[in-house]
Amino acid sequence: MSEIEMPVALITGATSGIGLAVARLLGSQGHRVFLGARTEEDVIATVKQLCSEDLTVDGAPVDIRSGDAVREFVQAAVDRFGSVDVLVNNAGRSGGGVTADIADELWEDIIETNLTGVFRVTREVLNTGGMRVKSRGRIINIASTAGKQGVVLGAPYSASKHGVVGFTKALGNELAPSGITVNAVCPGYVETPMASRVRQRYAAAYGTSEAAVLEKFQTKIPLGRYSTPEEVAGLVGYLASDTAASITSQALNVCGGLGNF
Ligand SMILES: NC(=O)c1ccc[n+]([C@@H]2O[C@H](COP(=O)([O-])OP(=O)(O)OC[C@H]3O[C@@H](n4cnc5c(N)ncnc54)[C@H](OP(=O)(O)O)[C@@H]3O)[C@@H](O)[C@H]2O)c1
Repeated sequence: MSEIEMPVALITGATSGIGLAVARLLGSQGHRVFLGARTEEDVIATVKQLCSEDLTVDGAPVDIRSGDAVREFVQAAVDRFGSVDVLVNNAGRSGGGVTADIADELWEDIIETNLTGVFRVTREVLNTGGMRVKSRGRIINIASTAGKQGVVLGAPYSASKHGVVGFTKALGNELAPSGITVNAVCPGYVETPMASRVRQRYAAAYGTSEAAVLEKFQTKIPLGRYSTPEEVAGLVGYLASDTAASITSQALNVCGGLGNF
């Protein structure tokens, strides 16, 4: 396949954890990958690393909480590689606490990042990214099993991810006749830098150690362990493929059995 025929994948939050594994997999499946995150040095280092693995990758810094930044980011992807065939909305943040003590700023930042950011990047990719006029497209939102069940001390996170699942189902139905599929991937516990930060937060809230929290979480997972970023990326890679053309408006778990719904 010549480079110009390779489909273009745009991935947010691809400098770490799940997003990085998705960038590597979609790149190895023959996509030209354009990636973003807020920290410019990490974007530069990630692009360099993935290019050294013989993948076709470029990127730019973006904060998905800013409409102007998102517009510039999607325009940069189009200028570099052309219109967008696959969007992976992966960037997100954790956070919560005792709900009665949650400040407006924390609530708003979690919703802004995890839910409004997904809407904003999606709208921009449909318009500036040119997906809206295509006969085939893929939008894959990284939600969470917390988007299907309540997580104690995680009300804003759970609310934001339930929102992403609702957004996915509505947009999937809306775009179904166009050949663009829209799905959510719902990881359970996945070993990433975010997972470690989450354990530290629970350890502080429960007055225990991070190791004790890890043990407690692992006991809840039927498989007995965290999933890997690569296992999550595997489902994203499948949903991006032609074979997945009839899967739309779904929220699919990768969670070692943690959520069976
Ligand atoms: N790990 C888990 O157990 C787990 C479980 C369920 C769902 N998830 C979801 O999976 C996704 C990825 O999580 P992860 O564990 O891989 O997290 P991670 O290791 O913390 O990586 C998050 C990525 O998102 C970027 N990011 C954060 N805020 C951003 C913003 N406002 N604009 C643009 N980029 C931003 C980060 O880079 P910068 O900080 O430089 O911006 C980083 O590249 C998230 O949506 C998360 O909610 C994770």
